[in-house]
Amino acid sequence: AHRDQFRHTEPHTVADTVDGLSPAFTPFAKRMPVAPVASPVGYADGADVYRLAVKQTTAEILPGLQTEVLTFGGNFLAPTIRARTGRPVRLIVANQHDQHANVHMHGAHVAASSDGHPMDLIMPGQSRTYEYTNKQQGTTLWYHDHSHGTEASHVYHGLHGVYVIEDDDEQYLRLPSGAFDVPIMLRDGLFDANGQLVFGGNPAERDVMIANGQPVPYFPVAARKYRFRLVNAATERVFKLDLGGAEMLQIGTDGGLLPSPVPLTELELSSAERADIVIDFSRFAPGTQLVLSDAVRGPVLRFDVQRAFPDFSRVPDRLRALPALRRASVQRDVVLSFDMSGPIPLGLINGLPYDPQRSDVMVQRGTTEIWRVFNGDGPLNALHNFHLHLEQFRVLGREGSPTLQQDAGLKDTVQLPAGTAVLVQTTFREHLGKYAFHCHFLEHSSLGMMAQMEIVP
Ligand code: C2O
Ligand code: CU
Ligand code: CU
Repeated sequence: AHRDQFRHTEPHTVADTVDGLSPAFTPFAKRMPVAPVASPVGYADGADVYRLAVKQTTAEILPGLQTEVLTFGGNFLAPTIRARTGRPVRLIVANQHDQHANVHMHGAHVAASSDGHPMDLIMPGQSRTYEYTNKQQGTTLWYHDHSHGTEASHVYHGLHGVYVIEDDDEQYLRLPSGAFDVPIMLRDGLFDANGQLVFGGNPAERDVMIANGQPVPYFPVAARKYRFRLVNAATERVFKLDLGGAEMLQIGTDGGLLPSPVPLTELELSSAERADIVIDFSRFAPGTQLVLSDAVRGPVLRFDVQRAFPDFSRVPDRLRALPALRRASVQRDVVLSFDMSGPIPLGLINGLPYDPQRSDVMVQRGTTEIWRVFNGDGPLNALHNFHLHLEQFRVLGREGSPTLQQDAGLKDTVQLPAGTAVLVQTTFREHLGKYAFHCHFLEHSSLGMMAQMEIVP
């Protein structure tokens, strides 16, 4: 029944270019905020304790208009949680909204009881405690709602925040840090004449590009190196970003640092993917303006280069070696597709829509597996992507499409063009229980394009 709320008449591909109808606004009128870093409220059982509330409120996103949003913590731009490898975080979330919600830590290696399973919900007025052990290398994760069938609408209305894991090894590299290490959460939105977010319909119509909660803002930078942690929190969009031909150095992906930096002039991120990049603004004269643009929707964010500034940071040629690939003992096929025969499209994995009662895949803990994930919607030309909970994976290759630059390194989400397959390998190291895997275009997962694996001893 939850599907009735969707007005989809056809699965939309994010490659479509459709004019949006949002009220006009002046780009580069406001400064891009940086999310506040959450402070622990205490320390208990070896963990830093944080509290967050799910709250409905209004925010001025477009000038002069108040938009109804859902938030973690009361502001449209949720606080960033900064954790450390090996140091546990306890997150207590109070649901002050009148609908159920929950929190999934995207990309985290976490016990099933704290993964934010789609049926493990926080009812209105209730609280829930999540435990994150942070037993993984430094990287950029993000937290978002994962409530069954409503994840797309909840995330679209604002239930998204950044979570950074820092580690010691990374600190020795002396990458830009402190004020020069800036998470940027990118998303989109379609707004009606009253400034309300329009959900449903064609995601390609979402015409307002939003960076850290502001539509097409500017960001003053000193003429030195910055590290930007880009997170695509849009429910259904591929950002194809460039800096007007200027070079960006990619240093990390979803699961952490790359073995060595990769110079890029273009960067693609599908929903939920992250890219860790360094931009060296010392190459530009003070006064230079550099626009980060999306190939489809145009300007996203402008960097305004200001005075020179001392810079003792570096980007070493060797960042961090990837863990050795083990030998895989299990191979599986996973097919993502739509069933278009009913009044509403149904998302399927291996022919079935998501059923939280069913375990689609049984995995023995400790095994290394190769999954061949195929986008069966060649005839519809629908783009999907693929996200696995619990473990990072490696992309071994693709069939029907060349390997993408953004496939490198440790990944938990990859895009999947129509009619092509991606081969991913992972080792299920530690935890037991039920975890989801799905298309991370959340409109698709909300329509059923999600399945469950159960890790058993
Ligand atoms: Cu971003 Cu199932 O998650
Ligand atoms: Cu996830
Ligand atoms: Cu999909």
